[in-house]
Amino acid sequence: MAQILDGLKVSKDIKKEIKAEVEKIVAAGKRAPHLAAILVGENGASKAYVNSKVKDCKEVGFGSTLLRLPDTISEEELLNEIKKLNDDATLDGFIVQLPLPKGMNQEKIINAIDPTKDVDGFHPENFGRMALEMEAFLPATPYGIMTLLERYEIDTRGKHCVVIGRSRIVGRPMSILMSSKGNPGDATVTVVHSHTPNIEEFTRAADIIIVALGAPKYLKGDMIKDGAVIVDVGITRVEDDGEKGYHLEGDVDYESCEPKAGWITPVPGGVGPMTRAMLMKNTLLAYKRYNR
Ligand code: GUN
Repeated sequence: MAQILDGLKVSKDIKKEIKAEVEKIVAAGKRAPHLAAILVGENGASKAYVNSKVKDCKEVGFGSTLLRLPDTISEEELLNEIKKLNDDATLDGFIVQLPLPKGMNQEKIINAIDPTKDVDGFHPENFGRMALEMEAFLPATPYGIMTLLERYEIDTRGKHCVVIGRSRIVGRPMSILMSSKGNPGDATVTVVHSHTPNIEEFTRAADIIIVALGAPKYLKGDMIKDGAVIVDVGITRVEDDGEKGYHLEGDVDYESCEPKAGWITPVPGGVGPMTRAMLMKNTLLAYKRYNR
């Protein structure tokens, strides 16, 4: 039976630590950190994510601004809004919620964000700095996973880590962080993806598996070895007849993996709340680093 990597508990600890720091800042007569979010259009999941980010800001004592823009907005107008946020000295960081409406050049939009305010860590400058092991804003999900492994003192040094998926915001950065110097880190990393034949040959040899695929219940118990550390990044909305109309499903088949794994993250209550907490952490870091 696996031990639980309790992301919900650790995220609460982290938010409490942040809140305590903010209280000290405010008690010293300084302004609180401030995060803004741009939400374009009416995507249901995106609205929910952004609302929870605003709620997290309130919880830790940050100021927050939610900028809602219609999906009819032009790229130029959006770039203009980003420029305003870049120039706003009372703002420590901001995010542009993805995905953007069809037809918009996501790369161009992200590149327009001031890297010192890019608390999502999506700007190429932050990505490059991360890859070079320089001070950077780490993308929230990989940062959350590294922090979760750190708080549970999971030894990753010299271990074989298989990352399933190579997305810009999870798989790719995760593979870089796990192979970077440090512990967590110092792992031997294999990245597998849609063009990898026989993925299970890799996962069966892995000490640590990070699954970021977006395919519900993909990783089965017979694909892992005894005692493996299993990190589930999946949060696919699957429709059901319940009150909400959907529930969240991870990429890990928990039922078959949990009895075999050494450690496992639940869904919900694993990586998701850690992601949210790390955005707050990055905003606090932005506040402290750049002292605007
Ligand atoms: N869409 C899905 N995840 C994220 C995230 O972490 N940040 C932003 N801005 N958009 C997302």
